[in-house]
Amino acid sequence: MIKIISVVGARPNFMKIAPIHRELQKFKSEINHLICHTGQHYDENMSKVFFNDLELPKPDYYLGIGSGTHAEQTAKIMIKFEKVLIKENPDLIIVVGDVNSTIACTLVAKKMGIKIAHVEAGLRSFDMEMPEEINRILTDRISDYLFVTEQSGLDNLKNEGVDDKKVYFVGNTMIDSLVYYKEKISQSNILNELKLKKQKYVLVTLHRPSNVDTGSSLEKLIKFLNRLAEESKVVFPIHPRTKLNLEKYELIKSLNPTVILTDPIGYINFQALVKNTALVITDSGGIQEETTYLGVQCITLRTTTERPITVEIGTNQLIGLELEKAEKTCLYVLSGNKKEGKIPKKWDGKTAERIVKVLLNGIP
Ligand code: UD1
Repeated sequence: MIKIISVVGARPNFMKIAPIHRELQKFKSEINHLICHTGQHYDENMSKVFFNDLELPKPDYYLGIGSGTHAEQTAKIMIKFEKVLIKENPDLIIVVGDVNSTIACTLVAKKMGIKIAHVEAGLRSFDMEMPEEINRILTDRISDYLFVTEQSGLDNLKNEGVDDKKVYFVGNTMIDSLVYYKEKISQSNILNELKLKKQKYVLVTLHRPSNVDTGSSLEKLIKFLNRLAEESKVVFPIHPRTKLNLEKYELIKSLNPTVILTDPIGYINFQALVKNTALVITDSGGIQEETTYLGVQCITLRTTTERPITVEIGTNQLIGLELEKAEKTCLYVLSGNKKEGKIPKKWDGKTAERIVKVLLNGIP
């Protein structure tokens, strides 16, 4: 019997692991699959609702790490995860994406001689000021299986001299979840609840430190959103980090009261909002991919993206942090000038299947 432990920690991990878990369940007689949740994200609406929506079982291990500085968070995860590995001695761990839980668990497993599969390997923003970029590079460097979502990932790993025997171009498990829950997403009632009409609102998500951690950048954002609210309904589900800073700088009251502020929204309802919006404005990584898959207009308020395929062939536009430019582009899109897009290769709902096939062949 092969034992595999998958690690999840933060919101964008859950929809990437769910399809892998479902696929592994088909091989129950050969593989014992456990899930370890580090607790990096712990709020009901940042974590539990995703387990429910994505039909993930209660995690076998919950480490309860919570928030902290990068060192505190990473170190606490390492200490607790090592105990899990000592007890379980798995053949392999699966880590996804680029969050602190990803690198923390990878580092522990590697030093214990346990194999690591990194799902969403090879992505690079080439911006070492992003904690995620550090996490990506280090995780890839010591992982044994590198599962890649797009061509740039293959190119980056090749340029870094990674042995191509470790690299597998499999597609995107985040898109597997979108495909799997298509029907449920179309049945969501969230548009009615928020009194929204299809294509008649703009959806905003912002949580990157570069956008929300200083008073001055937040002030500019508020001005930008207020300007947009004159043109369209705006829905803004607020990430806890953004909320905390808006409160800290006393800026919530400056926001145009017509902007619909909500708590973070669960997977199914959020995807329904994405699917039906005229435009998404975001600084998230995953949402750039989900909009490209759905053919939804996306404006990304960042200077770099580690997912260039979404700009090259998808509906994403990378605008940078100059909000006057962002405003112009948003208004241009809202007046009907849409960017045409195509779906990237292998984003077809079958990525978990490909990953599990590789793992079944590879692990003795
Ligand atoms: C983390 C990831 C980021 C990912 C994002 C998605 C890292 C380095 N960053 O950023 O890549 O895009 O998740 O959401 O791993 N908080 C709560 N409740 C929660 C979680 C967080 O209140 O359930 C608050 C805390 O004040 C915390 C802050 O949000 O300090 C930030 O959380 P943290 O996990 O450190 O980073 P994120 O900004 O969420």
